[in-house]
Amino acid sequence: MQITIRLTALLLLGLLQINYVMADQDAATNMLADTCVACHGKDGNSVGPAIPSLAGMSPNYLMGAMLAYKYDDDEDKLDSVIESDTDFEDIEAFPRYSTIMGRLAKGYTEEEIKLIAHYFSSETPVRPTQAFDSTNAAQGKKLHDKYCEKCHEDEGRLADDDTGVLAGQWKPFFLYSMSDFKQGHRAMPKKMKKKLDEMAETDGPEAIEKLADYYSSITE
Ligand code: HEC
Ligand code: HEC
Repeated sequence: MQITIRLTALLLLGLLQINYVMADQDAATNMLADTCVACHGKDGNSVGPAIPSLAGMSPNYLMGAMLAYKYDDDEDKLDSVIESDTDFEDIEAFPRYSTIMGRLAKGYTEEEIKLIAHYFSSETPVRPTQAFDSTNAAQGKKLHDKYCEKCHEDEGRLADDDTGVLAGQWKPFFLYSMSDFKQGHRAMPKKMKKKLDEMAETDGPEAIEKLADYYSSITE
């Protein structure tokens, strides 16, 4: 009898401790994410328009972006950090230009980046209402299906592609990203570059504007 009571007490104590550690970790993550939320909005749903929403993006994409910002001027270091950590094994990070994030990301450790990435990934995206041209949006949908859907599935909603989220992303941010890719300020997979070049040749520079109208027309 006494042994049972003791065992139960020990078990309860253990459970309490586990709960305590988990609550502690949640609080730490919230504190870390607070800084981000100031710009990226509550739960990572930005009130825009030049700052991207992060909610619902895949952990791999978010970690890759943060690591790319953190090691922006040192590609060898970026590669070696990714190779040396099994939590990063499915990440393909592409160097990218930034106005703010490069400086900010340097203040976070790899472990903090993991916690923050999982936090924003678990939040539900809220897609804002944005002005768009509906003729453009209809043509943009066709362009998306032809050139982008293969890697940005489900109209650019699917997080598991590890390609960010295009559906309902803020239009100015999308246009900045496309301009960064075009000018070579942001790296991308070779196959995406091939599609962008093909699109520019066949459909002209206005294709980007049409895609922007299409993605910003998506509110669900
Ligand atoms: C002062 C405002 C500000 C703060 C604070 C901030 N961000 Fe950003 N974030 C930006 C801007 C602006 C961009 C676009 C890139 C750039 O120009 O720096 C961006 C881009 C990003 C992207 C790329 C999204 C994409 O679709 O590719 C990620 C990921 C990101 N931020 C994560 C974070 C995290 C995590 C934090 C907190 C640790 C954070 N940001 C804090 C302003 C901010
Ligand atoms: C071969 C696969 C592939 C194709 C095709 C492709 N993409 Fe991508 N795209 C990617 C990957 C991978 C990333 C993530 C890059 C990174 O991590 O920085 C990406 C990222 C992006 C981003 C940045 C998202 C963000 O949140 O910052 C935009 C914008 C984008 N793609 C637009 C397009 C458009 C528009 C098309 C069609 C014209 C297209 N892509 C076709 C693979 C592809």
